[in-house]
Amino acid sequence: MQKRIFLSAVALAAASLVTSVQAQDTFKIGLILPMTGPFASTGKQIEAAARLYMAQNGSTVAGKKVELILKDDTAAPDVTKRLAQELVVNDKVNVLAGFGLTPLALSTAPIATQSKTPLVVMAAATSSITQASPYVIRTSFALPQAAVALGDWAPKANIKRVVSLVTDYGPGIDAEKYFKDRFTFNGGQVVETLRVPMRNPDFAPFLQKVRDLKPDALYVFVPSGAGTALMKQFAERGLDKAGIRLIGTGDVTDDDILNGMGDVALGVVTSHHYSASHKSALNQKFVEAFQKANNNLRPNFMAVGGYDGMRVIYEALKATKGQGGGEALLNAMKGQIFESPRGPMFIDAQTRDVVHNIYIRKVEKVNGQLYNTEFEEIKDVKDPGKTK
Ligand code: DHB
Repeated sequence: MQKRIFLSAVALAAASLVTSVQAQDTFKIGLILPMTGPFASTGKQIEAAARLYMAQNGSTVAGKKVELILKDDTAAPDVTKRLAQELVVNDKVNVLAGFGLTPLALSTAPIATQSKTPLVVMAAATSSITQASPYVIRTSFALPQAAVALGDWAPKANIKRVVSLVTDYGPGIDAEKYFKDRFTFNGGQVVETLRVPMRNPDFAPFLQKVRDLKPDALYVFVPSGAGTALMKQFAERGLDKAGIRLIGTGDVTDDDILNGMGDVALGVVTSHHYSASHKSALNQKFVEAFQKANNNLRPNFMAVGGYDGMRVIYEALKATKGQGGGEALLNAMKGQIFESPRGPMFIDAQTRDVVHNIYIRKVEKVNGQLYNTEFEEIKDVKDPGKTK
């Protein structure tokens, strides 16, 4: 009896020793994403990409076991913030990552500042997010990068009068402002700016108005996933038949849903940093591996933001040799330069934001499938929204 008690006490002590050693040897990434609700495709794409990166690069880095802790915030900012707090306090995560929408990143930024935890934004794209905390690093994109490129391209394509239609929150407002300023500077005219609600948008009344205004083109921003409904109503209202072109930032012809849109999407011109048909050996490998691991799902720009975010985290962990806290990790994330499936990219050490190429693309049918075919490239685009 005595001996049994003694033995189990030894076992218990050994077990707790193992746990504490494990805790020390574990590097935790708290990945917060909308896995359910209207923005679940963003969560699904980023999770799949993060897991692919880990499968390809191993889960032991600098002697640490990398653990991904996935949480579903349902795209509610108060939930994102609470989950981040729990991840920092209870799970003691080393990095916070994900952030499917601007309000989710903004609500959580103060947690990163208070706890000195790097916060890697893999999706949200309003310019100002990187200024919400010195611990924010962004691997997605900034809307002004794409909007300005299209404002330069449109007049060259003989588009003179435009109506702008954007989802009414951070990225939409950036998309509207930066396109309008650049397009107007280039001699174009934005005859009307329309904003649709973020939740349950009904595009029909807005599109009717666009039809009546008869611009050369309708310029749009909608968040990833909302493009299908917009495209359908664009055709139903006969805007294509009325000779109104559709242009926008690449969010509207998102690779996740593009192929399901049908021929109405053919010829739509957009500006963005990633297309699944980007021509590089690295991207081809990425798309193939992603599709193989995910039942043939095509990766979109959200997946690439997640994949590159994992790269930035892994390399920072390597550079700090598994030692050092949030500050050291953050510093090792700044200034990283590498080839992404999107093309060359770097994290500007001053702004902590991504600098990458923006491509002008046109929807085309390739081997029976719809793709955003890149036909013009603007190199090394910094966020024009940054003041410093
Ligand atoms: C944001 C969300 C998107 O789905 C997108 O395509 C671009 C920006 C955002 O909320 O920041």
